[in-house]
Amino acid sequence: MSAAEATGAYKCIQGTLQSGYAKSGNAWAGQYTAWKNYSNQPYVSDTHGGRYVNNYANGRGSNYSQYENAGPAPVGTVLAKDSFSVSPAGKVGAGPLFLMEKMAAGFSSESGDWRYSLILPNGKVLGETGGAGGDKVGFCIDCHLAVEEQDSRFYLPDEYRVQ
Ligand code: HEC
Repeated sequence: MSAAEATGAYKCIQGTLQSGYAKSGNAWAGQYTAWKNYSNQPYVSDTHGGRYVNNYANGRGSNYSQYENAGPAPVGTVLAKDSFSVSPAGKVGAGPLFLMEKMAAGFSSESGDWRYSLILPNGKVLGETGGAGGDKVGFCIDCHLAVEEQDSRFYLPDEYRVQ
C-alpha cells in the first residue's frame, strides 16, 4: 500500500479501534489518540503480527522524539502502538493495542519497570505485566530487552519517524 492508502485505511478504522480498546477500561486505551503520533504513516511491523502500526507517546514520554539519544524514559511515560490489518482484497480489520507504561522503580526487575499490556480489538485485556495474564506478555519483555540500553524502546524505522 502507498503511504496515502495506509493513512486512508487508518482513518477508516481509527474510530473502531478506539471504541473497541476503550471497552477494556484501561485508562490509556481511551485517550492515546490525543497524544503525539511519532509515525508519519502507518507501517507494517513484522514483530507485532505483520500489521500496520502507529507509535504514540504521552506528554510525560515526549523524550521519545529524541529516539536513540533519549536516555531513560521518565516514570509515567506511556507508549501506545495501535494496529490494523489489510487483507489482499483490501479489507481493513482491527488489530490489538500494544502498550508500554514506565512504572516506579521496583515494579518489575524482569521488565525494566515497564508494564506491557496487550489489549484485543474487542477490549479484552489478554495480559499485563504484574497483573492478570502476565505470562502472556512475557514475550514482549524478552524481545524488548534486546534494547535494554535504550530503556527497552526500539523506536521506529528511520523513514517513518516524525521529528
Ligand atoms: C520479536 C520482537 C518484539 C516483540 C515480541 C514485541 N515487540 Fe514491541 N517492538 C519491537 C520493535 C522492533 C519495535 C519498533 C519497530 C516496530 O514498530 O516494528 C517495537 C515497538 C513497540 C512499541 C513502541 C515503543 C518502542 O519500543 O519504540 C510498543 C509500545 C511495543 N513495541 C509494545 C509491545 C508489546 C506490548 C508487546 C507484546 C504484546 C511487544 N511489543 C512485543 C519488537 C518486539
